[in-house]
Amino acid sequence: MTTTTAATAVPLTDRSAYTRAVEQALAASAAYYGDGETALDDASYDALARGIAAYELAHPGHVRADSPTGKVGGGVAPVGEVAHTVAMLSLDNVFDAEGLVKWDASLARRIDHPVEGGYAVEPKLDGAALAARYRDGRLVQLVGRGNGTQGEDLSHAIGSIAGLPAEVPGGVTVEVRGEVLLTREQFERANEIRAAHGAKPFSNPRNGTAGTLRAKDRPYTIETTFFAYGAVELDGGGFLTGAGHEAVMDQVAALGVQTTSATEIGLRVYATLTEAQARVEEIQRLRPGLPFGIDGVVVKANAHAEQQAAGSGTRHPHWAVAYKLPPVEARTRLLAVEWNVGRTGHIAPRAVLEPVEVDGSTVTYATLHNPAFIRNTGLKVGDTVVLYKAGDIIPRVEAPMVALRTGEETDIVLPEACPGCGGDIDTSGERWECAGGASGGCGRLPSLRYAVGRDQLDIDGLGVTYLEALVEAGLVDDVADLFFLTREQLAEATGSDKRADSLLDRLAKAKEQPLNRVFCALGVVRTGRTLSREIARHFGTMDAIRAATPDELTEVNKLPGANAPKIAAHIAALGPVIDKLVEAGVNMTEPGTGDADGTGSKPLAGEAVVVTGGMHGPLAGRNRNEMNELIERAGGTASGSVSKKTTILVAGEGAGSKLAKAEQLGTRVLTEDEFAALVAEYLS
Ligand code: IVH
Repeated sequence: MTTTTAATAVPLTDRSAYTRAVEQALAASAAYYGDGETALDDASYDALARGIAAYELAHPGHVRADSPTGKVGGGVAPVGEVAHTVAMLSLDNVFDAEGLVKWDASLARRIDHPVEGGYAVEPKLDGAALAARYRDGRLVQLVGRGNGTQGEDLSHAIGSIAGLPAEVPGGVTVEVRGEVLLTREQFERANEIRAAHGAKPFSNPRNGTAGTLRAKDRPYTIETTFFAYGAVELDGGGFLTGAGHEAVMDQVAALGVQTTSATEIGLRVYATLTEAQARVEEIQRLRPGLPFGIDGVVVKANAHAEQQAAGSGTRHPHWAVAYKLPPVEARTRLLAVEWNVGRTGHIAPRAVLEPVEVDGSTVTYATLHNPAFIRNTGLKVGDTVVLYKAGDIIPRVEAPMVALRTGEETDIVLPEACPGCGGDIDTSGERWECAGGASGGCGRLPSLRYAVGRDQLDIDGLGVTYLEALVEAGLVDDVADLFFLTREQLAEATGSDKRADSLLDRLAKAKEQPLNRVFCALGVVRTGRTLSREIARHFGTMDAIRAATPDELTEVNKLPGANAPKIAAHIAALGPVIDKLVEAGVNMTEPGTGDADGTGSKPLAGEAVVVTGGMHGPLAGRNRNEMNELIERAGGTASGSVSKKTTILVAGEGAGSKLAKAEQLGTRVLTEDEFAALVAEYLS
């Protein structure tokens, strides 16, 4: 199957395929401008629109009045209520070096000489365009792009967008323009929050951003991120004195509004087009590791005088162009659906796909989220589907291409019994669960594997084969049983006395693990490593955790309130396992909490620490979870992203965008060695 590129058009062979294509395009546009959550991705929408246009050219008599061809936003873009000060234009596209050279030649013709003021090169951020109006230093209004002349008022989103401060210094009046997006981290977090509220997951960050910007009365808040890529005068404020794009963006950054220079692919200006082309290629190489999605690179004539001389058409400026990168979406076929049971008994559907290349890797499987997703999209086996994958995001199936159905497609059969143990399924929620839960037959092995994993009890050498043997021999039912195994039993399961001795050694060490790891090993629903650390630190002892009411659990940092009752119920159900762990002598306290060794005297007390890059020297070999544990043992709080709240950034080898952002914010940056020296007494 082909990756969707700008050149592809969905082939529409007859009038009924054309009708279905128009209906799908209209529904996709309406959904995008509605809640932003069910639309086709950009590339597939374009391919569909091109297929419709090609069919209409060949069959002018069949053209439907509601056809999206030639209409802004497919004819359903909201007519915004706010007039734009200066039109919010779109960008013309090129797809290769040759296209860029042609754009440059036409620009030189328009301005009567080759570009002299340099080429500004910056990422084309994949989100939603936004104009942020500051009057007298206060953020007073947010306006969406709408049809370019009139935009929708999105001011209700003020306060939920990182990078757009509520106030800027100097009582400035100016309109900053840029892109709002969900970073990969925000996207994952947004879907966790939505799952906790029983809402459908966003299929990709772009649709999630569009939906989030428009949502007015959600019972929860989803944080997005803003990057400025331009500014225009507001009320004749006279603030923008820079003679070119770079200078204006420096003025914007000086206000504390985030620009792309907070990232490793931020704005740079080059004297020649060859250098600009090299930077495009560099940005393309860096793309998979970026913390947010980009769909291209924008090249702009930097000097205002040259921008003015070039001028703009009705839709695009002549002085800027988008160099589109291969899409992170592809079309492929859904061959089958598999159902798997996770460690907590969660039964999840997985798409088996015709292998397809996306974003540098071959994708064969993708998540289908839950049965409700299958019902809502009307997905069938045999459908051509849109697939989305960017960086390390789990590949997701978006929508079926209904217009391409042949009639051979078949309904997806939902399981009637748990695919793991054959028992009942609890279908009361959006997520289906094995009625036996984690302790049921199907969840037992995955939960044991999880419990002995490196970030939990770290019992190296106890692989799945030995665990299976121990379970089959009837010796192990849950994690606590591991601690009662005898040397003979271990030797029998592993076929070696030596292995048995080494495992006994690891089990003895595992008894000393801090509470956060012991708690994590229990595999409590809706908790993982981060939340287990937060819970252990908050309560200090297993007894306190067991005694906590759902209300008390919601006081734990990062614990979504809606999850608290489920977590409390699961902890209660795990009572007998916890009792057995206590009996085995497993540690039930979190070091450094609730005693004289309080956080106040620790080296990282009051510090909010972010780690980036690879760790070497005294910190070598520690993964992020272990670094976060270290930070928390030393009295600090650990976080994954740099914000104004961050007080220390530990920059390891290859540190990129987080380091740039910390520098922009003036955050204290420590090398690995400096950090290791600071927390030396906690290193062992
Ligand atoms: S400049 C008059 N710069 O791409 C100049 N746009 O396809 C118009 N976009 O609507 C925009 N990153 O929402 C510009 N670095 C960047 C951009 C960027 C993303 C979006 C923007 C625009 C769309 C055009």
